[in-house]
Amino acid sequence: DWTMKAFREEAIERIRAQVGEGRVICGLSGGVDSAVAAVLIHEAIGDQLTCVFVDHGLLRMGEAEQVIGLFRDSYNIPLVHVQAQDLFLGALEGVTDPEVKRKTIGKLFIDVFDEEARKIGGADFLAQGTLYPDVIESVSFTGGPSVTIKSHHNVGGLPERMKMKLVEPLRELFKDEVRVLGRELGLPKAFVDRHPFPGPGLAIRVPGEITREKLEILRRADAIYLDEIRNAGLYDKIWQAFAVLLPVKTVGVMGDGRTYDHVCALRAVTSVDGMTADFFPFDMEFLGRVATRIINEVKGINRVTYDITSKPPGTIEWE
Ligand code: XMP
Repeated sequence: DWTMKAFREEAIERIRAQVGEGRVICGLSGGVDSAVAAVLIHEAIGDQLTCVFVDHGLLRMGEAEQVIGLFRDSYNIPLVHVQAQDLFLGALEGVTDPEVKRKTIGKLFIDVFDEEARKIGGADFLAQGTLYPDVIESVSFTGGPSVTIKSHHNVGGLPERMKMKLVEPLRELFKDEVRVLGRELGLPKAFVDRHPFPGPGLAIRVPGEITREKLEILRRADAIYLDEIRNAGLYDKIWQAFAVLLPVKTVGVMGDGRTYDHVCALRAVTSVDGMTADFFPFDMEFLGRVATRIINEVKGINRVTYDITSKPPGTIEWE
């Protein structure tokens, strides 16, 4: 892509000019944005960049292995894998408010980065894969008084005590452009075409209190859903698909017995930039097959629903 080639060259020059001889630390979330940002910055400044992958215990099945495999094995980019499950899940205990979840996670991310930066002898810059829609959506809702829709943890400046400056090379791009850039940088298709995944991870897909048990149930349902979507050849037609574990239990029957388990909601949307979205029109047979597999294979779920809300008025995530 001609324009992306030019963007890439310019972005590299800009990063070099901004960073100079400084050291940069970059958080990888497992999503395409931070991956593209990291590869671009690595191309610009090489080993002045250290990547940090924080496992906050809110990742999907197999996610940590995939990210580490890609960065260490394919790109040879210095990567620190921080095991912070206890720290994050401990701090989230008893937290039910979505914004408090985001703020708690955002603050801990900064603490962890601070600590990792100290360990490598200090970093001058923090790199993030912030996109254009992140920038505008977390500022205000047009038309009314300034209302924050969702405080995206990766936007909005850092606390004073963090002396690092921000490097955000994707700030002008939309998601589809980031994907083109990712291809231009040679990232594998499986990574570039991945559905977006939010920084707070599964925390915002477990409405109500988060427990390790609920997270495990959700991971298993989500993996089955995505597996079926891939097998049906639908993955690339969908912007984002995921399962949500509801804090509601309902009665069911299984064999001779009565069950009383969680409801799992399935979400899938089409979108061009995440700002607006339509629910994906699966056929009923597909949905029935997924529901049957989830209920049969995942202990703890006995009912599955499909979310047919578009954005607006819904958001893509449930929190
Ligand atoms: P919503 O739910 O606001 O999501 O319609 C729009 C897009 O943004 C992602 N999202 C987030 N990403 N931190 C992130 O890094 C967040 O707090 C966050 N909240 C939503 C969401 O997955 C979708 O792609």
